[in-house]
Amino acid sequence: MAPFSRFLMAVALLYPVISVAAGGTRYSGIFSFGDSLTDTGNSLRLPATGSGPSSRPPYGETFFRRPTGRASDGRLVIDFIVDALGVPNPRPYLAAGKTAGDFRRGVNFAVGGATALGPDFFSSRGLKPFVPVSLANQTSWFKNVLQLLGSVHERRRIMARSLFVVGEIGVNDYLVALGNNTAREARTLVPHIVAAVRSVLTEVIAAGARTVLVPGMIPLGCEPQLLALYTSGNHDPDSGCITELNELAQMHNGELNVMLRELRLAHPGSTILYADLYSAVADIIVSPRKYGTHITNRLIIVQIN
Ligand SMILES: *[C@@H]1O[C@H](CO)[C@@H](O)[C@H](O)[C@H]1NC(C)=O
Ligand SMILES: *[C@@H]1O[C@H](CO)[C@@H](O)[C@H](O)[C@H]1NC(C)=O
Repeated sequence: MAPFSRFLMAVALLYPVISVAAGGTRYSGIFSFGDSLTDTGNSLRLPATGSGPSSRPPYGETFFRRPTGRASDGRLVIDFIVDALGVPNPRPYLAAGKTAGDFRRGVNFAVGGATALGPDFFSSRGLKPFVPVSLANQTSWFKNVLQLLGSVHERRRIMARSLFVVGEIGVNDYLVALGNNTAREARTLVPHIVAAVRSVLTEVIAAGARTVLVPGMIPLGCEPQLLALYTSGNHDPDSGCITELNELAQMHNGELNVMLRELRLAHPGSTILYADLYSAVADIIVSPRKYGTHITNRLIIVQIN
């Protein structure tokens, strides 16, 4: 199945607040974890997904003028963050070489179709993820990179100067669970997905990360693939979105924020930011005219302490 979501990719969102939140820090690069909302070329290099939709036009046609593996005709949010911060675009992990120089100024571990949870979790429920990559894989790639980056002191120095973007992740987990048309099953995934995100955050903070941005869940009930496939729900009269699935996304974001608050208390030396993708996307869906055909510069960072 195609790793998801065309409309979202066209949504260009900027995060100018990041530099402010970090007290004017200049970042040296970005380390990012996630799925097709952030993948800038990894799925193109995986045998299981290399010939997927994002390897062909119209993907890539309006900005890069060729398919780059991004699930968009143009750029992704991560590309705008890179621009806003003036840092190099992090190389897709699977495209980079394997020397310290390839990774010192950031890496993108995100893979289109990736899940937060691993294959064992899904098989225990008789389900099968779309692609063989979960957050556990991305975490082990991160550990490989760390090993390459020199002494412990040098590694911590690099981590402290980098921005970590962890997510959005989890949308594919829900898509897999909703394949059987049961939101009940999908709801039971929430705490597991939030725990998987937490374990990545704990890992990167332990390695020395000082600034972490965690984008939340999008309004799942407005996602075109789900609108087509999920036929049993009630639709919200204003947006046309499926109420039950938007409630699932809100439940996810609620539990994600509880976890982030706990982590902030446990790690006062790190800045942990939440990016509210849900409200940004929901507003565009309810009021598309407000944004015209090109949606840019939407400020979507919310810091909750
Ligand atoms: C899917 O639904 C069918 C019929 O309700 C059920 O028998 C089956 O166990 C479900 N499969 C999964 C993986 O939940
Ligand atoms: C991800 O991890 C699983 C489980 O360890 C493994 O089977 C799979 O091959 C890994 N995927 C990639 C792309 O390395």
